[in-house]
Amino acid sequence: MNKKLLTLLLAIGIAVIFVATGLYAGTEVKDNLILEDPGYKKPKKRAPKFKSLAFTHKKHMEDHKIACGECHHDKDNKPLDLKVGDNVQKCSECHNKFKKDKKNKKDIMVHENAMHQNCKTCHKKINIEAGDPKGTKGPAPYSCSKCHIPDKKKKKK
Ligand code: HEC
Ligand code: HEC
Ligand code: HEC
Ligand code: HEC
Repeated sequence: MNKKLLTLLLAIGIAVIFVATGLYAGTEVKDNLILEDPGYKKPKKRAPKFKSLAFTHKKHMEDHKIACGECHHDKDNKPLDLKVGDNVQKCSECHNKFKKDKKNKKDIMVHENAMHQNCKTCHKKINIEAGDPKGTKGPAPYSCSKCHIPDKKKKKK
């Protein structure tokens, strides 16, 4: 009985912290971001069948120790040396094409390509360093469903 109560209280505690940090984020750099750019007016592959996983922004900055400039750059693709509190543009302000061009599938100004190249290039490297020769399996998500989580409820029907 006591153990159960303790677990319950602990769970509530964690939930409260979770909600509190979510509210705290406000205009600051959020700890976790749900990357669902409004530029995708009719997301086909993601919503409603898929939901996006939270991008652990704070963890990338603090635990994984990745410099802001690895992801944020200026109009000339020069890495930005940022501080928390600086005004930062969304990727989609420049990578503002939301449809792949059949003739130029790799066009980096296409939002999807920019996001995939940024996240996946680094994750592959991390996974190779962690011992997977192909870099597709490992601690950093690389396969589609690790980042675009299938919505089970929708699938069952
Ligand atoms: C490391 C995480 C990651 C992996 C792995 C990944 N994606 Fe993405 N993908 C993203 C992010 C971030 C976006 C941008 C989402 C946004 O802002 O709406 C995106 C966007 C997309 C989009 C355009 C948005 C939409 O909803 O239509 C498609 C399609 C897509 N991904 C398909 C795939 C497929 C297929 C794979 C596997 C081959 C894959 N992704 C692997 C992170 C990932
Ligand atoms: C691993 C990649 C990565 C790193 C490292 C990173 N960011 Fe980000 N950051 C992103 C992505 C992706 C977004 C979402 C942008 C979007 O929605 O288009 C974002 C969003 C932001 C936003 C909100 C922008 C907006 O308009 O909503 C701020 C502010 C920000 N980052 C600041 C920083 C600072 C300061 C650092 C370094 C201390 C940093 N970031 C490190 C990837 C990163
Ligand atoms: C101010 C405009 C601007 C913003 C904001 C921006 N980019 Fe870019 N990005 C560019 C330009 C310009 C290039 C270079 C295109 C080229 O080489 O043809 C580029 C190139 C890239 C590349 C290719 C990198 C390389 O070295 O080949 C990736 C990946 C990328 N951006 C991801 C992102 C992500 C992720 C974000 C948001 C966190 C972002 N960009 C925000 C303008 C921007
Ligand atoms: C420059 C390197 C780098 C870039 C760029 C990067 N990541 Fe990561 N990511 C990492 C590292 C390092 C880990 C931790 C792997 C481990 O657990 O050892 C990680 C882990 C993750 C995780 C698992 C949760 C966590 O934080 O441990 C998610 C989700 C994730 N990344 C999403 C993304 C998305 C989405 C993007 C693109 C917007 C991105 N990452 C860009 C380096 C990067």
